[in-house]
Amino acid sequence: MGYRHVLIVVAPMAFCLLPLACQGGERGAAEPRPRTQSDRGTSGVELGAAQIERVNEMGHPGPPPADDTNLVADDLRAAQLGHLLFFDAGLSANGKISCASCHDPDRGFTDGLALNQGLERGRRNTLTVLDAAHMRWFNWDGRFDSLWGQSHGPISHPREMGSSFAEAVEHVRETPDLRARYEQIFGALPPAPASGMAGEATIANIGKAIAAYERRLMTGPSSFDRWVTRWRDCGTPRDADSVPPMDFSASALRGLDLFTSRGLCWQCHVGPLLSDGEFHALGAAPRNDLIADGGRFESVPQLKASPFRSSGVHSASPQGEQGKLVESLVAQPDQWGAFRTPNLRNVALTAPYFHQGQFATLEEVVTFYSTLEGSVTLDHHRESVLRRRDFSPTEISDIVSFLRTLTGESPPADWVRDPWRFGPGESIPSAEVVRSNSAVAAENPR
Ligand code: HEC
Ligand code: HEC
Repeated sequence: MGYRHVLIVVAPMAFCLLPLACQGGERGAAEPRPRTQSDRGTSGVELGAAQIERVNEMGHPGPPPADDTNLVADDLRAAQLGHLLFFDAGLSANGKISCASCHDPDRGFTDGLALNQGLERGRRNTLTVLDAAHMRWFNWDGRFDSLWGQSHGPISHPREMGSSFAEAVEHVRETPDLRARYEQIFGALPPAPASGMAGEATIANIGKAIAAYERRLMTGPSSFDRWVTRWRDCGTPRDADSVPPMDFSASALRGLDLFTSRGLCWQCHVGPLLSDGEFHALGAAPRNDLIADGGRFESVPQLKASPFRSSGVHSASPQGEQGKLVESLVAQPDQWGAFRTPNLRNVALTAPYFHQGQFATLEEVVTFYSTLEGSVTLDHHRESVLRRRDFSPTEISDIVSFLRTLTGESPPADWVRDPWRFGPGESIPSAEVVRSNSAVAAENPR
C-alpha cells in the first residue's frame, strides 16, 4: 500500500533515515540517545526482506474505500440516521433487539457469545462491525457484497430480528425523528403497507443509511501501527526496550516474526486488515450440536439472486467494479466449507473465534493452527489447506502477544454511544430524539 517503496530503500540499509526523529523515542528529540547495538532490544529478532515487506503492508488502513453503489455512503445526515437505526430495537419483531444488541460497542461491536442470540439462537458467531467497511464481501460466507446490502439480512432473519420489510418501514414512518430524517435524505416514504418493489427500495435506503454509519466505525492506530510507523521512520525493528512508552513487547515482536515467516499466517492474513478478503476451508470441526456449514459454496447463488446485490436494481452503480465482479462469480465445489479470512484488527476484543465460535480464546485458536487437532477433511478430493505448525508453548504465547497489539483506538465517542440518549453523532443530547424514544429505551435496557 504505497509503502513498498520506502521499504525497498530502508530494508537493506537497516539504519535510521531520520535519526533525530528516532533517537529520542516517544520522549521527543529533547533527550537524544546514542544509537547502540542494544537499541535493538532483547527480542533477538531480525526480520528478513520478505518479512519486512509483509510487515510494511500490514500498517493502518486509513479511511475506507469509496462505495459507488451507495450515493449516501459518506453523507453525514445519512450516518446520523443510520446511527439511530443501528441502536433501534423498534426494527425487530418483538421490539427488543437492535443491531447493537449483538454488535455491542462495549464488546468491540460483538456479543461475546459463541453463537449469536436473537429471537432464537443463531448458527454463526457474530462478526464485528468495526473496520468492516474495508471488506469486499460481508458475513463469514461473503453472502453480501456491500454494507448496505447486508443490513436487511438481520432485520428480516427469523432467528435474528424477525421483522418483515413492511414492518420495518412502518416503524420508520411511526417514529417522527426517523421519518423526518429519512424523508430529508431519500424523499417521501411509500404508502403503507410498503411491500413489493417500493418496500424493497425503502429497505435498501435504510441499509444505505446504516452503512453510512458503519463507515464511521473505523478504529485508529493500534500499538502495532505505532510501532510500524516508528520503525518506518527508523528503518530497524525495535521493541519495548528501545522505545519505552510503546506497547510492543519483545514477545509481540517474536510473534510478529513467526506470523510473517514459519507460521505462514501471512499467506491469508495479509495487508492492512490482516485479511486477504478471500475464502478458505480450514476444516475446524463444527460444534457438536451443529452440522457443518457450507460457507462460500452456498452463499454465491444466494448473493447472485439477491435484489440487494451491487449489480442489482437498488445499486447506484450496477455496472461498477463490484457489480461486475458479483456477476462473474461462480460457486466452486472447493469452496464448500470455506469462510472469509477474518480481519484480525481488534481481534482481542471479539472472542469467541471462528464461524461457529469454536474457540474461546486466542490461545485456543493458535493451538489449533499448531496441532490441527479435531480438524476435519472437508472434501476427499483435496489436500488440507493447512499444515501443522508444531509451535512451542512460548511461540503460541508470542503469537498471541502480537495479536493483542492489533487493538486500535476506539472510533469517536459520539459515534459509539447510544444516540437515543445522546443524539446521533453529536455530543449534545437531542431533546426530540430522547423524547421520541424514551419509552422504548426504558422498556428495553440494553
Ligand atoms: C442476533 C444477533 C445479530 C443482530 C441483531 C444483528 N447482527 Fe450483524 N451479525 C451477526 C452475526 C451472527 C453475523 C455473522 C453472520 C453470518 O456470517 O452469517 C453478523 C454480521 C454482520 C456484518 C458483517 C461484518 C463483516 O465483517 O462481514 C455486519 C456489517 C452486520 N452484521 C451489521 C448488522 C446490522 C446493521 C444489524 C441491524 C440491522 C445487525 N448486524 C444485527 C449478528 C447479529
Ligand atoms: C489458509 C488461510 C489461512 C491461514 C494460513 C491462516 N489463517 Fe487464520 N483464519 C483463516 C480463516 C478462513 C479463518 C476463519 C475460519 C473459520 O471460521 O472456519 C481464520 C481465523 C483466524 C482467527 C480467528 C478470527 C476470528 O475473528 O474469529 C485468528 C485469530 C487467526 N485466524 C489467526 C491466524 C494465525 C495466527 C495464523 C498462523 C498461525 C493463521 N491464522 C493462518 C485463514 C487463514
